[in-house]
Order: sequence, then C-alpha cells, then structure tokens
Amino acid sequence: MTLLEVSDLTVAFHTEDGPVLAVDSASFTMAEREVLALVGESGCGKSVTSMALTGLLPANAEVSGSVRFAERELVGLPENRLSGVRGRDVAYVFQEPMTSLNPVLTVGRQIREVLYRHQRMARSAASRRALELLNQVGIPEPERRLGEYPHQLSGGMRQRVMIAMALACRPRLLVADEPTTALDVTIQAGILDLLRTLSAEIGTAVLLITHDLGVVADIADRVVVMYAGRTIEESTVDGLFASPSHPYTRGLLDAVPNPARRTDGGLREIPGLVPVLSSSSDSCTFADRCAHTDDLCRSSRPPFEPGPAGHPVACWHPVSTVDASPELWRAGA
Ligand SMILES: Nc1ncnc2c1ncn2[C@@H]1O[C@H](COP(=O)(O)OP(=O)(O)O)[C@@H](O)[C@H]1O
Ligand SMILES: [Mg+2]
Repeated sequence: MTLLEVSDLTVAFHTEDGPVLAVDSASFTMAEREVLALVGESGCGKSVTSMALTGLLPANAEVSGSVRFAERELVGLPENRLSGVRGRDVAYVFQEPMTSLNPVLTVGRQIREVLYRHQRMARSAASRRALELLNQVGIPEPERRLGEYPHQLSGGMRQRVMIAMALACRPRLLVADEPTTALDVTIQAGILDLLRTLSAEIGTAVLLITHDLGVVADIADRVVVMYAGRTIEESTVDGLFASPSHPYTRGLLDAVPNPARRTDGGLREIPGLVPVLSSSSDSCTFADRCAHTDDLCRSSRPPFEPGPAGHPVACWHPVSTVDASPELWRAGA
C-alpha cells in the first residue's frame, strides 16, 4: 500500500536577497515498510523536501503541491494537527545527534519524555519501554546508560539513542537525514544496518537521506535522485545501479569509491556546482554540467517519465546502456 505520495512539491524561501527555489515540483512515492533513499549532492533540496513533509520549515518558506500521508493531505494542515503527525506518525533522526539531544537531561529522561508526550504513558511503563528501546537499538548495558547524560556516550551511541527516541511511538515513517555523516566510517555501517533491521522488525518505512550513493545498495529498496530541487530519477536499487538513466546519476555512480571499479581510471567527479535557483526555469537544470546538452535541453524542461530502462527519469537524452551489476556496489564486492 502507498504510505506517502509526494506530488509537485515546491518550496520557495523568501530571503533578503530574493527568492530561493529549494524544491521544484518534486514527486515520488513510498510504500509501507519500504526503505527509500533520497540521494543527491549537498544543496540539492533533500533536507528541505523531508522537512516540508510535516511542515517543519521556517515561516519564510512557501510550500505548494501535495503530500499525501496514509491517504491524508498534509500540505496546508494547521500546525496543531501537524505536530500530532510529527513524532507519532512521522519521526526524524538528524545528522548531528548532539544538537538534537538535551545535554542536561539523562538519556532515560529524554526517552520517557517522548513517551509521556505522545503516548501518555505512566512513569513505570515508560521506564520499562525506555529500557526495551535501548536494547532494541543495540546499546550495551542499557540500564546503566539510561542514567547517563549525552556527553558520556560516543557519537555512535548517541545516534542509537536518537533512533530509539524516534522509534518510541512506532512511527509509520522514519526520516533519517544523513544519520551517519557525522560519524566515524567504522560506526556508519552499524547504524545503517540497525535502520534496516528495525525497519523490517517494526514495520516502519524509512526515508534515508544521503549524499553518498555508495551506502544505498546495501540498505535501500528504492532510490530517488534529486538535482537542483527536482526529482530526476526514481527506481529500484537494482534498476538504478544496473541502468542509471540520467547523466547526473551516472556521474554520481562514477564518483562512488569502489574497489571493483578502480581499474577504469579511478574516481571521477562531476565538474561544476549545483545551481541555486530563484525561480523555476524552462530548461534542464543539469544542462550546464552535462556532456549531452543540446538546444532542446536549454529550451525545455524534460518531463519526469519512464525512460529506456522503464523507470522514471527527467532527461531528454537518457543513457540507455546497461552498465554493470548492482553487486559491484554492494559491501564486500
Ligand atoms: N531557511 C532557508 N532559507 C533560505 N534558503 C534555504 C533555507 N534552507 C535551505 N535553503 C536552501 O535550499 C537549498 C536546498 O537545501 P537543503 O535541502 O538543505 O539541501 P541538501 O539537504 O540536499 O543538502 C539550498 O540552496 C539551501 O541553501
Ligand atoms: Mg541536508
């Protein structure tokens, strides 16, 4: 069943320097229990998209389009209704756990607060549930940890606590925005693994936001690629890695460090930067960085429609060659 349906989601910020179009007609869907990766370079609109889902944006943001969550339209809902959706139905985990945790409250107290607020649990029930949650997210000696403060935990353990808090109310959707970017590489795999396992165990869908296409093959079912505020390719993981159709997706894949691909000249980067747009343009936003650009790309916006590989792609000249086995990108390849 469809859990989330985002259609033509557009977010413009009104700033002193003029408008910034952060998200431009983004469209994608998520099924219940699915792990969907939202991928793209820094600044392409991933975080703004995820925050727009539940109205988490500042007052200078103008949001239009549609976000249907469990058959209910969220765009335009008043704040008192949206705050009920957040935490209970849709929970967030952000990049830097230290800024999201309260430094002066114990871990146990912070988890219990979530349970009091959203589930009106009594203290003893909340304490039992807090312990259960710490166990579930793989924190050793959970009893002792409940009485500790955030600074007494390592970065990886803090992120596990954030995940425990996010899952406290068994949300239907967990949004994890670059959850491992601030962590040591050796810790990253464990956290991603945990998200995958918990999603399967609890039945929570996960929207995993990342700039790193390299982590996607191991954890996600499907992928949505964003570029300059637009969704430009949407596919199953296998479909995307086997036949990336947008030249930008190809570029991202070529930039993934992978031992199995080192022989063909090593790591490449996509030259140029993601443009910051003030208004929607009638061209392909990737035209300035693309090797295939012609007059059509500069004069009309490519529709986001099924391409040569069968999955949606927004490109006038999609790449049609089958590239490589997705196994090449999986861990241990
Ligand atoms: N509060 C804001 N006011 C103005 N511009 C913003 C604001 N938040 C984000 N932006 C702009 O929106 C664009 C998308 O940002 P973001 O979603 O954070 O990118 P990503 O998460 O993909 O790195 C960027 O150009 C960013 O500078
Ligand atoms: Mg971001």
